[in-house]
Amino acid sequence: MGRAGKVAGYRGSHNISSDAERLIPAAFERGSILNARRARGTLRRAMADYIAINRANWDSRVPVHLTGYELARFRGDPAFLSGVVRFDLPRLGDVRGQRGVHLQCHIGTDTISLARLGATMSGLDLSPASIAAARALAAELGHGIEFVERDVYGAVEALGAGRFDFVYTGIGALCWLPDVRRWARVVAQLLRPGGRLFIRDGHPFLHTLSDPRPDGVLAVQFPYFETEGTHYREERTYEGDGAPVGSPEMVFFNHGIAEMLDAVRAAGLELQGFEEHESVPWNPLGEACERFGELGEWRMRPGMPRIPMSFTLQARRPG
Ligand SMILES: C[S@@+](CC[C@H](N)C(=O)[O-])C[C@H]1O[C@@H](n2cnc3c(N)ncnc32)[C@H](O)[C@@H]1O
Repeated sequence: MGRAGKVAGYRGSHNISSDAERLIPAAFERGSILNARRARGTLRRAMADYIAINRANWDSRVPVHLTGYELARFRGDPAFLSGVVRFDLPRLGDVRGQRGVHLQCHIGTDTISLARLGATMSGLDLSPASIAAARALAAELGHGIEFVERDVYGAVEALGAGRFDFVYTGIGALCWLPDVRRWARVVAQLLRPGGRLFIRDGHPFLHTLSDPRPDGVLAVQFPYFETEGTHYREERTYEGDGAPVGSPEMVFFNHGIAEMLDAVRAAGLELQGFEEHESVPWNPLGEACERFGELGEWRMRPGMPRIPMSFTLQARRPG
């Protein structure tokens, strides 16, 4: 699979420039408060444009991702399921006959996997190229899935309120959204009374870490709590043939555990379960990680500290 980077969607920070690091100190080095203010202004504008920046970034990953994501296996075996969904299955349970929506569905491999398990699926994503690829793949494989192009925050307007038995999302999802409380309100509105949220995503602690250093010490480089965002540039993506992406800029957001739990509670959802896992489906820390388990996920190799790499959160809208 070749996934690498702390988030499914960006790679190690050695290839990444953060505007906060690059622009502001450079301006101060030149001895000018005015320059620093201008740099901060540039940074704020970049964050305000996060939708346009991230949409262009994800559109440009699609041609590369269409050379990966185990698509040959999806085509060769009508029962094949993505590794992401196979990991979730023991917790997800039987979804046959249920109506589900996959938020931030990208090219639709997890959405199709849930349809193969018997759910009636809708998928939503910001990126037109992702939605076009998801529609084409679902049609080719014979799955009738509704795919809509929309920002997550517009999901209720696009899909309707109270329509779904479950909302499924994760593995590189929350890190693209600036406000986790707003996200949780959207999830709550999409669900019918008694419906449930299922999310497994990268752990916010993992998202704070820099690339491994030569001395093996894991260093905290990025915010743990929700901030106005961090701006990155990354020439290559985590999946596919390794070709460079056309739009390498992106804006990333972290959300602490308590912020997520509080968001779910404030949206009126009841927490049903919260687990931390020692693995993720992509390699987030290069040489510090090893393959693990039947699904070939990644965890810290022996000798490195054991840390949470991902989490599963389940919640329910009261019936
Ligand atoms: C790493 S993928 C997650 C999907 C799934 N785990 C996968 O790997 O196929 C991230 C997806 O989030 C989408 N995305 C980013 N920001 C979004 C937003 N504000 N609203 C809807 N989708 C968004 C991107 O277009 C991309 O397709």
